[in-house]
Amino acid sequence: MPRAADTRPIHVLRELLTHRGTLRATASRLAPAAAGRAWELVRDADDYNAWLIAWSADSALTAHDHGSSDAAVHVLRGSLIEWYHDPGDRALWNVRELGAGRSITVPRARIHEVHNAARDAALSLHVYSPPLTAMNAYGAVGRSTVGSAAASL
Ligand SMILES: [Fe+2]
Repeated sequence: MPRAADTRPIHVLRELLTHRGTLRATASRLAPAAAGRAWELVRDADDYNAWLIAWSADSALTAHDHGSSDAAVHVLRGSLIEWYHDPGDRALWNVRELGAGRSITVPRARIHEVHNAARDAALSLHVYSPPLTAMNAYGAVGRSTVGSAAASL
């Protein structure tokens, strides 16, 4: 009897990363506005979905959670900065740089904020399981500490 497909986000992420040509073709259609993001759904299954996100320089997604979804993120191009906080974490916010080639997991209770604080565009792949249906917003955390003076909260 065949095993059920492993729909943990990190497993799906790794599988999707074997389809680089498809990801490149999708990425070529993404044209984010200045300081903005553009995205496209690349896989929509019953138990997960996956999105490709293009980040212009100085773009950000302020603090949010992923509702009841666990997630995995891979940076395909460029570099992103992540602020994150887990329930019970003594640190108010942790911060780390996610360079090209790096994969991370994002457990469902985590709140995080993601910036492209670099001068160059970035591209990332995001997998959510169960499929992402809701995000709760918590406001900006780190944007005031990075990016250009023109960045506004
Ligand atoms: Fe997120």
